Amino acid sequence: MGKILVTGASGYIGGRLVPELLARGYKVKVMVRAYSPGYAELWPDAEIVAADALDLNQLTIALKDIDAAYYLIHSLRLGHKEFASADIKAAVNFRIAAETNKINRIIYLGGLGDTQSKLSPHLQSRIQVAEELKKGKVQVTVLRAAIIIGSGSASYEIIQHLVKRFPVILIPRWAKTKCQPIAIRDVVKYLVGVLETPATARESFDIGGKDILSYAEMLNIRADLLNKKRFFLPFFSYLPLYSYIGSLITPIPAPITRSLMEGLKNEVVCQNHTIRQYLPFEPLSYKEAIIRAMNREEQDRIHTRWSDAYPPAHVLALKLNELENGPRYMNTYFLYTTKEASSLFRCICRIGGKEGWFSNNWIWRLRGMVDKILLGVGAARGRKSRTNLRINDVIDYWRVEDLQKDIRLLLRAEMKLPGKAWMEFKIDDDGSKRRLAVIAHYQPQGFLGKVYWYTFLPCHQFLFNDLIMQIEKRSD
Ligand SMILES: NC(=O)c1ccc[n+]([C@@H]2O[C@H](COP(=O)([O-])OP(=O)(O)OC[C@H]3O[C@@H](n4cnc5c(N)ncnc54)[C@H](OP(=O)(O)O)[C@@H]3O)[C@@H](O)[C@H]2O)c1
Repeated sequence: MGKILVTGASGYIGGRLVPELLARGYKVKVMVRAYSPGYAELWPDAEIVAADALDLNQLTIALKDIDAAYYLIHSLRLGHKEFASADIKAAVNFRIAAETNKINRIIYLGGLGDTQSKLSPHLQSRIQVAEELKKGKVQVTVLRAAIIIGSGSASYEIIQHLVKRFPVILIPRWAKTKCQPIAIRDVVKYLVGVLETPATARESFDIGGKDILSYAEMLNIRADLLNKKRFFLPFFSYLPLYSYIGSLITPIPAPITRSLMEGLKNEVVCQNHTIRQYLPFEPLSYKEAIIRAMNREEQDRIHTRWSDAYPPAHVLALKLNELENGPRYMNTYFLYTTKEASSLFRCICRIGGKEGWFSNNWIWRLRGMVDKILLGVGAARGRKSRTNLRINDVIDYWRVEDLQKDIRLLLRAEMKLPGKAWMEFKIDDDGSKRRLAVIAHYQPQGFLGKVYWYTFLPCHQFLFNDLIMQIEKRSD
């Protein structure tokens, strides 16, 4: 077989599929919107191409010399008003670019849902994308899945947060609707399986796990596994409000909680089981999928997470070194220490997530909560791994822009701000001692941006000075 293109490779499912294809010896081209050296480091055997599906020219170049392409793109993060039109445009472009390049197959992972009933906008859009891709001459295989359970998946983390943190959970009426969750392991098996089974080209399959459950039952099983008694109270639900509250109390942003919750109003259960004729393996049950995800979390081995894909406006984020005349404002806080650069750096790389910011955590969290209220990403995103850090990883409301071992960690702010901000940790070694610095870089946007910088300056002074002191103290 020729080269395989994986779109949405920076996302949750694409990021799991790429290593599986590489391990099976396929030649893989990975398509991302924003190139970063982190991808080449992560998948040294893959070719990386940067292309936006909304740009036909870029897509046509990305699809050159491709035999089969996975379509794993959605635009949900653009929010309710924009995602459906963006998704259609991306699918039309993809169909045209695939035809121009005479590729052999497209494999698309979409959503389950009875096409005869009134579907949520997200599920409707997933079906429209399938229809659009199928209009061309290229053979399209459609896989349709309900919610996907795995370490780092959005659905898993919503369930996890609700059950872990709240003894009483408000259950809307529509939470009794049936759903057929599937484990991420099985999704990847089906994605690879259909590629390796030519008879599945031009077919559409429903894929699901062993169980058909309601949202309330899923919460209950999770609570049992945690040995926690939870009370479920029926609740009058106005969905936008319920999903907004959901986004405040879980790490998942509002556009995603809303589409997931809207989707729960529709029964999402496999209607055809023909996939079993081609790929007759036994999928995991919901409970098995949860246990596997819990194990991964405990072992700190989460490969991809819903937060890997960028929030809107940050996809093609300007890098600090791309600012023409450098940032307008910059403040440096530093100290000298005799501690080793390697121990200082190890400590720096542990910040955020469950470990917190070493002191004054409430201030960092309050900033995150304000961001969440403003429909930003918030601090609850935490981090994928407690110990490892790579370029592009998320740390609360930051994203790693640059990482140079024992020298520099550069974080780009993804919270709502009237400007662009970076926080840089820098270690300069001058033989007998080290200079440990935190540098705040800020490029204001308009008058409000300037007001923001000066208003928070005293707070930064206090926070950052304390932060470097804590890092120094904890570096052993
Ligand atoms: N996760 C689930 O529970 C679930 C369930 C059923 C079906 N699915 C389907 O599985 C597929 C992948 O979902 P996922 O969970 O992996 O999503 P995800 O983690 O949110 O990733 C979405 C991907 O789409 C890319 N993307 C968005 N707009 C793009 C554009 N204009 N051009 C190029 N790339 C673009 C994103 O790239 P950036 O990083 O650049 O933004 C990201 O890689 C989707 O079709 C979804 O409907 C998912």
